[in-house]
Amino acid sequence: MQTLVTDKPEEAASHLNRGETVAFPTETVYGLGADAFNPDAVAGIFRAKGRPSDNPLIVHVASPDRVGEVAREINEAAQRLIERYFPGPLTIVLKKRDSVPDIVSAGLPTVGVRCPAHSQAAEFLRHCKHPVAAPSANVSGRPSPTDWKTVYHDLGGKIACLLRGEPSTIGLESTIVDCSVKPPLLLRSGAISLEALQEIVPDIKVATTCREGEAPKSPGQKYRHYSPEAEIILVETAPSSLPTEQKAAWIGLSTPPAGATKSLQCHDLDEYARVLFGFFRTCDAEGIRTIYCELPPEEGIGRAIRDRLVKAAG
Ligand code: TXA
Ligand code: MG
Repeated sequence: MQTLVTDKPEEAASHLNRGETVAFPTETVYGLGADAFNPDAVAGIFRAKGRPSDNPLIVHVASPDRVGEVAREINEAAQRLIERYFPGPLTIVLKKRDSVPDIVSAGLPTVGVRCPAHSQAAEFLRHCKHPVAAPSANVSGRPSPTDWKTVYHDLGGKIACLLRGEPSTIGLESTIVDCSVKPPLLLRSGAISLEALQEIVPDIKVATTCREGEAPKSPGQKYRHYSPEAEIILVETAPSSLPTEQKAAWIGLSTPPAGATKSLQCHDLDEYARVLFGFFRTCDAEGIRTIYCELPPEEGIGRAIRDRLVKAAG
């Protein structure tokens, strides 16, 4: 399959409306979209990514008032979150309408809905006839792509079209809150922090990470994720030096240790989030064998960075 790379949201949408798969930028990470109401089109997403079929997809809408096209009821907690954070880097899980096919929800009675705050994404979604189902636009198991070249590297030749935009400004996937249960549950941390969510929905709880053999709260939690090929070593504080037998890299907020083949010192948590997945990818491309990652404080987006680091370490 030839992958068309375009800068025009309307052109990208015309491919999607024909039942094809289209990658597009958002402020969190790039997504791989298909018409959410067309099960054959959605099957193309699973094929291109090599994604397990029991992992549901997030459905994207062009504006906050269109959540009702996929959600059966919008309860008070969801209403408050939508008013405050849509459009933005937040996904809300709600009871789904029958119009959302099982292949999108992986058979669950719920659907995750997101309205991105990204001008190209919004324009693209406005030109799409229906809501757009889209996971991150990476080969399953690899770090989510934060720039178009990475999408092309993973999926070029396997998807119909790629809407080219700037690198994602947040760099980590959306915060996911399950509002189909009481109290609402934080399923995945992201740029919208737990503290910020609690200001809007005080009784929100953090979902316990799933243990082997238990039904996962968010099916995506059970898969190894965000992983580079290099081994990830997590440290609470920076060592003064790294072992030098093999190529090792360092990323964190502190001064890089001596002996690192490659290092990236981030000035703040936002920068750490924005560059992390790209750093993993460059390390793999450069044959780095071990990546030392400094665990940031568990506050604000630091919680999301820690979550992705722990998952990458496996
Ligand atoms: O920032 C993002 O969320 C990006 C952009 C493209 O929107 N998308 C993304 O999708 O990260 P994906 O498929 O890589 O991650 C979606 C996560 C998975 O862990 C999945 O299990 C969970 O959302 N999810 C989707 N629908 C769900 C539902 N109905 N109930 C619980 N979890 C759900
Ligand atoms: Mg993903």
